[in-house]
Amino acid sequence: MASSSFLFLIHLFCGMFMLRSRLMEAQSNHNISLGSTLSPLGPQKSWQSPSGDFSFGFLRIRDDERFLLAIWFDKTDPKTVVWSATNLSATREMALKVTADAQLVLTHAQLVLTDGQNSVLWNTTGDSDDVVSHAAMLDDGNFVLARPDGSLRWQSFEYPTDTLLPGQSLLPGNKLQSMDTGYLHRRFELHLRVEANGSDLSLYAITTPSGSSYGFYWSVSTSNIATQLCFQQSRLVLVLMNESVINITSPSPETETDDKVYQRATLGDDGVFRHYVHPKNNATMGWKTVAYVPKEICQSVFTYGSWICGFNSYCKRDNENIECKCPPQYSYLDHNRKFGGCKQDFSSQSCDVDESSMFELQAMVNVDWPLSDYDHFQPMKEEDCKEACLTDCLCAAVIFENSTGDCWKKRHPMSNGRSGSFVNRTAYIKIPKPKGDLARVATSWGYIMPQILIPNAN
Ligand SMILES: *[C@@H]1O[C@H](CO)[C@@H](O)[C@H](O)[C@H]1NC(C)=O
Ligand SMILES: *[C@@H]1O[C@H](CO)[C@@H](O)[C@H](O)[C@H]1NC(C)=O
Ligand SMILES: *[C@@H]1O[C@H](CO)[C@@H](O)[C@H](O)[C@H]1NC(C)=O
Ligand SMILES: *[C@@H]1O[C@H](CO)[C@@H](O)[C@H](O)[C@H]1NC(C)=O
Ligand SMILES: *[C@@H]1O[C@H](CO)[C@@H](O)[C@H](O)[C@H]1NC(C)=O
Ligand SMILES: *[C@@H]1O[C@H](CO)[C@@H](O)[C@H](O)[C@H]1NC(C)=O
Ligand SMILES: *[C@@H]1O[C@H](CO)[C@@H](O)[C@H](O)[C@H]1NC(C)=O
Ligand SMILES: *[C@@H]1O[C@H](CO)[C@@H](O)[C@H](O)[C@H]1NC(C)=O
Ligand SMILES: *[C@@H]1O[C@H](CO)[C@@H](O)[C@H](O)[C@H]1NC(C)=O
Repeated sequence: MASSSFLFLIHLFCGMFMLRSRLMEAQSNHNISLGSTLSPLGPQKSWQSPSGDFSFGFLRIRDDERFLLAIWFDKTDPKTVVWSATNLSATREMALKVTADAQLVLTHAQLVLTDGQNSVLWNTTGDSDDVVSHAAMLDDGNFVLARPDGSLRWQSFEYPTDTLLPGQSLLPGNKLQSMDTGYLHRRFELHLRVEANGSDLSLYAITTPSGSSYGFYWSVSTSNIATQLCFQQSRLVLVLMNESVINITSPSPETETDDKVYQRATLGDDGVFRHYVHPKNNATMGWKTVAYVPKEICQSVFTYGSWICGFNSYCKRDNENIECKCPPQYSYLDHNRKFGGCKQDFSSQSCDVDESSMFELQAMVNVDWPLSDYDHFQPMKEEDCKEACLTDCLCAAVIFENSTGDCWKKRHPMSNGRSGSFVNRTAYIKIPKPKGDLARVATSWGYIMPQILIPNAN
């Protein structure tokens, strides 16, 4: 009986925010009163929920002097941000990063964030006649401003950033945006679109800097009208107008002991939307993925841009983890941002003199870079395909498909790189032959071309 009425409550929580105010009354000893302030260096830096699970306030950004106005899991180590205020004046919505002299005030009508010069950086907006009586950080992770009658004037749950929490929903027209660790790049978005002929929940790849879309790479659609994407107790579901639901993720055993784990669903900087759990009794255990979409992100292809991994790198999936790898003798453009692409660590083959004997092709089985080809031969023998690239100073790599005898020449930058058993091709990447110095004999390169090793032999 008790558990079924609990489930009923959870169900209504998605979208029916009204009930939250009742919860709020139960927590009224934690009301935040009008005129209360927060600032990054204190005296008050944040407001905690009654259980201490969540905090709202200023959080220092890693490797940065600045702070986010955010909501985070306060008992995990490191603390995990679930919401942050966005910079409304940025051309693309980005997290607001404030300096130590910023201040947040709860006025009679809104929350107002100002900088050291007293100019407004962010506020909760709305009609100033719509009076607020107090605010509260609730135990479910929702930060709310309440009217004197207890109804909600503003709540963070209505403005999700990259994360949904249990009980929270994504409404039509709203979106989640991925964020990198520096809160700068937003490469992916999750949208719930509702049209007269149906609805779809889709993940989009976003261009920088214009913020337009390359297109979607995962989608669930229905001919019905969807009212929300709801994070129920243990799974994410698309709720339809006729009250039936479409499962987006399936429940896992970990989430059945709801009171023992923290949960969140976050759109990651690698484009994957994951449902995570974290044990409440071990702060350092870390977040574990229990469900995710899409299942095969490395397999999609976009005409423009580099797709999931930067140019010249390739995408590899190991269960729910996505890795971007560089080919041999290539390295990351930025070691702190492995999604940012790779550059070659050697001088390209000269087109002025014949250097074809100084280069070789290294085989990378089940690796492909679709779309960046500038020439195509079929049928072709494998050795002829390789030779065609070695003798062409513009060729960066060739892709060979043994079953069909297809040979594709690739130029820089290569895009849509992927690796996996689904790739029935071998990439041959052009790299310089090992140089003739003896010091390198012992290295992992393994062998040396004799004619270079002993140049004075004849
Ligand atoms: C908190 O707010 C509620 C709703 O407005 C109110 O009933 C209650 O008296 C407040 N509690 C305190 C301690 O201020
Ligand atoms: C907001 O974005 C604008 C434009 O991109 C930028 O100049 C400004 O520094 C940002 N403000 C904050 C506080 O992050
Ligand atoms: C709140 O923000 C809005 C939009 O950024 C702005 O138009 C308005 O003037 C701000 N309100 C106050 C009181 O600063
Ligand atoms: C609805 O119509 C639009 C435009 O005609 C189409 O692109 C979309 O796929 C349709 N959606 C569904 C769910 O049928
Ligand atoms: C609701 O609509 C969906 C999709 O149109 C359909 O599959 C489902 O059977 C409907 N459920 C009910 C209860 O009518
Ligand atoms: C959705 O998940 C629920 C809960 O586990 C399960 O009972 C139901 O069969 C699932 N529906 C589909 C269509 O997979
Ligand atoms: C907490 O998790 C960490 C990392 O998995 C582990 O090393 C540690 O032993 C755990 N502590 C307890 C008390 O279980
Ligand atoms: C490649 O294709 C040839 C001819 O079709 C075949 O004999 C050979 O076994 C294939 N090699 C591999 C590795 O599949
Ligand atoms: C993959 O290649 C093998 C041998 O080269 C061939 O037999 C098989 O049909 C190919 N599979 C696909 C899906 O192209």
